[in-house]
Parts: sequence; structure tokens; C-alpha cells
Amino acid sequence: MDSQRIRQPELAGKVMTAEAAASFFHNGMTVGMSGFTRAGDAKAMPRALAERAQREELRLTVITGASLGNGSDGLMAEAGLLARRLPFQVDPTLRRKINAGEVMFIDQHLSETAEQLRSGSPSPVDIAVIEAAAITKDGIVPTMSVGNSASFVEQAKMIIIELNTSVPPALEGLHDIYLPAARPERGAIPLTAPQQRIGRTTIPFDPAKVAAIVLTETPDSPSTVLPPDDETNAIARHVISFLECEVEAGRLPHTLAPLQAGIGTIANAVLHGLVESPFRNLSMYSEVLQDSAIELLDSGQLAFASASSITLSQAKYEHFIANIERYRDKLVLRPQEISNHPELVRRLGIIGLNTALEFDIYGNVNSTHVGGTHMMNGIGGSGDFARNGQISIFVSKSVAKDGAISSVVPMVSHVDHSEHDVDVLVTEWGLADLRGLAPRERAVRVIDNCCHPDYRAQLRDYFTRACAAGGHTPHLLGEAFSWHQHYAQHRTMRLG
Ligand code: COA
Repeated sequence: MDSQRIRQPELAGKVMTAEAAASFFHNGMTVGMSGFTRAGDAKAMPRALAERAQREELRLTVITGASLGNGSDGLMAEAGLLARRLPFQVDPTLRRKINAGEVMFIDQHLSETAEQLRSGSPSPVDIAVIEAAAITKDGIVPTMSVGNSASFVEQAKMIIIELNTSVPPALEGLHDIYLPAARPERGAIPLTAPQQRIGRTTIPFDPAKVAAIVLTETPDSPSTVLPPDDETNAIARHVISFLECEVEAGRLPHTLAPLQAGIGTIANAVLHGLVESPFRNLSMYSEVLQDSAIELLDSGQLAFASASSITLSQAKYEHFIANIERYRDKLVLRPQEISNHPELVRRLGIIGLNTALEFDIYGNVNSTHVGGTHMMNGIGGSGDFARNGQISIFVSKSVAKDGAISSVVPMVSHVDHSEHDVDVLVTEWGLADLRGLAPRERAVRVIDNCCHPDYRAQLRDYFTRACAAGGHTPHLLGEAFSWHQHYAQHRTMRLG
């Protein structure tokens, strides 16, 4: 093994196969694994554990930063390894098991997992499994994400390091590891600008806790975001002209405020649209950087980006790695507790841009539950930014499933972000700025500006009749979910 990858010679004897390391795990354990939005995840250990669970009873609570790549969540779910999983996932097999009630999924604000672990929930981490680019004399060098890895390492009784030799050693120095002190003595987190470094470049660890070092050369799974289309381009234009108006009105400076953009195709496309915008010297304080962030760094419009992970398409990953020296002083990766921390999101005045599955006429947003019951992915960090940011924007295409579903409904079938946290709603048809409006005023704007024309009359009719019945937030409770019920029975939300 390259001595530059393991710079504590006494640890070289801990190298073993993933199969051998899997024997350290026992039924009922809590395991903290690295990985955030399919970046920096352990690759060999989930596979080895899934294989063991196919042969014998092995059920674990698995906590990560966010979603895993390489089909790991699917393999672990299929093998019956996952008794409990938190705080986020995007895997179709795991999704099916969650919705069948076979895996207990805890859908959690991503800033909160580390804090809850400190308070002993769900239960202390027994084993931390962390992907690393190197082990230095000072600590573990993470790879393309930090996620909750530093908290897992701090808490775990045993540490397994997956040393990924496909990751360039040049990643060293990109990370800024800082964890808040325990309460109640905790002081303010000393970060006042996205580019500021407040921690160290490696995750500190106790070498005596290292049970195994497992070698892998499997790369991160490439991102699956789709290229921008007519609708996402239209959404991007609405968001950009809204931001231009904010600058013109003197409510934002020309450099805007630090931007956060959520996962997925739509948020990526909106950020991609900024390449055509007049804005310069922008900054990001986000949890994940997708292709669009690299494009904005390349165009010179983005001066600095802070996040917890970098998730790229294959082509963009190769470009990023080949040019890493160019990005070195423009990027930092932090623990997700810091990238998403409510104290920092409020202090920095973040503009949050996240995606809704559906929203209602009063501004409540459902980001997670299809039809109100079936988990899609999870809330992720959207709530961290929506509640605490300066301007909280939610975007969505106005219809889904070839127009059979309206994303603008009378009442959302599940609430992730309440009307009190949502400032601006956008579809390809237009933008509704809800700030300073009462519910009845908001509804008019949402119906007129965001709803697909095919559903506008239907939604206006609901709202008119609800207003006749009265109330501060008028509703017809017997009818509020009739669109969802109609879809469940007839595969369309078009009534009549
Ligand atoms: N009802 C049912 N299905 C819907 C729907 C609705 N109202 N709106 C969208 N969908 C479906 C789409 O048809 C699509 O299905 P498909 O995969 O079968 O094609 C899927 O949801 C994804 O929608 P898409 O329009 O492609 O958007 P996206 O890729 O940007 O993902 C979310 C949208 C909401 C699923 C995604 O952004 C998410 O998981 N958000 C929650 C987490 C989050 O916001 N994190 C932010 C910080 S990282």
C-alpha cells in the first residue's frame, strides 16, 4: 500500500478484505456510514454486509449523511439488512421497502442528525464506516463529501476506513472539519462568510479504534440529473428575473446573497440558467454542488462555493478532477451540520432554492410524499434552508405524469414546509411572490401565476366556493383532497 495513503505506519497492519471486516458487525448495531448525495460513500462495506445478511440474520440501523450511490441502499434493503434507515435516501428498491413498511425510515432535517446523535437518538453509533482519500498523521482525509462522517468517527466505538485509491490524493485540503461543542456550554459558530475556514482539513480519530482498513477503487456513482428542458428553462428565467427585480428594488446587492440549491433536475437547471444571467461575484452556501456549480465557477460568475458534497455527471467529474488545482481556493466541503446549520443559514441570509412535488394555494409545500402517503426521497436539507433563509423559493413543474397530476392543488396531501416558511413559488408558467400577503391574497397569485392553464378554472372554482364558506384560510374540508382521490381512482386529477 502507498505510504502516502496511510501515513500512520502502525495502521498498515489493519488492512483486510471487506468480507473480513464485515465480521465485526452484530445484529442490532447502529452503523454510521459516510456518503452524501451519492458522493463519498463507502462502497465495499455495504456490499459485504448485504452478502452477509443474505446468509444469516443481520439487521442494522444505518445512518448516513444522505443518499448512497452504487446501488448500496438497494442491495442492503433487498438483503434485509436495514432495520432502520436515516436520514435520506433516493434508491427505488429501498423506497419500495420503506413504503411496504419493511424498513423503518426516519426522514430528518439533514442538519439535525448529528445533533440528535449527541442526545443519544436513535442510539449511539457502534461502528463508523468512512471512505477516505488518505489517513494522515492528523486524521482521516474525506473524499467527495463530508456529511456526518466527523460525528460518526467522534461517537463510534469502532472505525472502519475504506481507503479509495480511485480518488486523487489532491482532494486533501479541500475539507473544513468543525463540530459544534456540546451543549449547554456551546458558543456561537464562528463563521460569518461562505469562504471562511473555521476547522481543520482532516477528521480527527483515535487510531486505537480503527478495526479495519478496507481498500476499494470503485468511483462515486455519476449524478443522474437530466439536462435542462423547455419547462426548467422557463422556471430558471422566472427565478432570474425575480432576482433582478430584487436587485433593482435595492433589496439585494448585485452579488445577491449566498445561494443554496437543492438536489434534482429542476434545481440544477435553474442554477445552470444563471450562466446566462448578468450576476457576477456570486457565492454558494449549499449542501450539494451539482454540475451547474462547476459551470458557474468556470464562467467566473461564482466566486466561491461551500457545501457538504460534490455530486457530478461523469464528464463533469473528469473535468473537475483534471482541473482540481483551479478550484482549490474556490471550494470548501464541510460537515452537513455546518453546511445546513440554522444559525449560519440565518446569519448569512441564504437564498434557498428547493423543489416541491406539489404545493397548495396558500403556500404549503410537499417535497416528500407522493399522494400524501408514499415516500419519494425525504426532506433532505430543504427545511434547514427554507425555515431559516432570507428568501425561500420552491420550484416545480406545474404538472406531472403527462399532465394527469397538477402540482398546484387545493391542499397539499403532506406538509414539509408550511406557508410560514415559503416566500416564493415558481412553475414554468410564472412566479408567485407570497411575501407580505395574507392567505386569500396568496391563493389568487398562486392560481393566476403558477397553476397549469388546464387546472386553473378548476382551482379557481374550489377557491371561490371555499371563500364563500369563510375563514382566514378558506377550505372545503370534504373536498380538499378530492383531486388526489380522483387521481387514485381515475389516474387523472381532472375532475368531471
Ligand atoms: N405527484 C406525484 N409524482 C410527482 C409529482 C406529484 N405532484 N411531482 C413530480 N412527481 C414525480 C415526477 O413525475 C418524477 O417521476 P419519475 O421519476 O417517475 O419521472 C419524479 O417525481 C421527480 O420529479 P422531477 O420533476 O423530475 O423533479 P426532480 O428530479 O427535481 O425531483 C423532488 C423533485 C421533489 C423529488 C426532489 O427535488 C426531492 O427529493 N426533494 C426533496 C429533498 C430536497 O429538497 N433536498 C434539498 C436539499 S438537497
